[in-house]
Amino acid sequence: MQRYSRIVGTGSALPERIVGNAELSRELAERGIETTDAWIVERTGIRQRHLAAPEVSSSMLGAQAARAALQAAGLSADSIDLIIVATSTPDYVFPSAACLVQKALGVAGGAAFDVQAVCSGFVYGMATADAMIRCGMATRALIIGAEVFSRILDWNDRGTCVLFGDGAGAVVLAADERPGILASKLHADGSQEHILRTAGNVRGGGITGHPFLTMDGQAVFKLAVSVLDSVARETVAAAGLTLADVDWLIPHQANIRILHATARKLGLPFERVVVTLDQHANTSAASVPLALDVAVRDGRIRPGHRVLMEGVGGGFTWGAVLAEM
Ligand code: UT7
Repeated sequence: MQRYSRIVGTGSALPERIVGNAELSRELAERGIETTDAWIVERTGIRQRHLAAPEVSSSMLGAQAARAALQAAGLSADSIDLIIVATSTPDYVFPSAACLVQKALGVAGGAAFDVQAVCSGFVYGMATADAMIRCGMATRALIIGAEVFSRILDWNDRGTCVLFGDGAGAVVLAADERPGILASKLHADGSQEHILRTAGNVRGGGITGHPFLTMDGQAVFKLAVSVLDSVARETVAAAGLTLADVDWLIPHQANIRILHATARKLGLPFERVVVTLDQHANTSAASVPLALDVAVRDGRIRPGHRVLMEGVGGGFTWGAVLAEM
């Protein structure tokens, strides 16, 4: 009998502190950095972001999101035999955030590891977990996107610091006789590593390189619009379907203009695109599972719906997963 994987629960977690554009603009003005709510809304679609308190880490947000997903699935943590955390802002160099989530959930024994594919990380994690479940290496997996991007932002760079937020989203993926994940496609082009990166590390007890995110916004914008179109088409075709069969599109939440352009190129009405960017800003690997959880909980995404999730970001990486709920 053929073995597949299905999404059986979703969850998310957001830090308590909400910072609106007006408040952020005032804080940045005190540093001599000029920005406005109007610029941020018009150029990005972002209205506010959640920012984590200093003591809150990616694994803490990830564990909170995981608990919510397990509760939605009606499963206990000890039934999970695989934990994948997608993050570019892990608590430590090592151990992985996934091992810290496993500890926080009070379980042991299953596999746990992090995926580093920046804003495509969740989609990379889903594709990996689906493959591991289908080949029998795992039975029930937690795939988590968790980030505290506020830690790697240069608050003196208005071109990047207004764009990101903190948060986590999680999915429980379980083995099933019916297909849930219909197709996934992953890609990378390392030759574009320079257009979006945090090129720092620890060495000999100090920081080496540049520990803040840098981005060539326009280069990222152009590539994102191109690959979100191509990988959506490729993934839907791999499932033997057409774009008309897709109920919901959940692209990585980076910029409302990228989302509009993607929907337009794909010929999908914008009402079928889940948008949380205005509320959460860009939460990197957490953006897709956060948006999925919001739309599941508010009743938009229902059993039987086909959801196309797309990631794109640093590396350069991109990919998509098509799921039937
Ligand atoms: O998660 C990874 C994926 N990331 C993305 O997909 C991001 C993709 N890129 C973008 O979303 C956009 O390129 C940005 C939102 C980053 C920038 O928008 P843009 O329309 O490409 O603006 P720009 O960089 O061309 O800058 C236009 C102007 C510049 O001023 P001048 O040179 O025209 O005088 C910037 O200095 O806007 C200025 N600017 C700002 N002004 C007010 C840049 N940031 C700000 C700001 N407030 N926060």
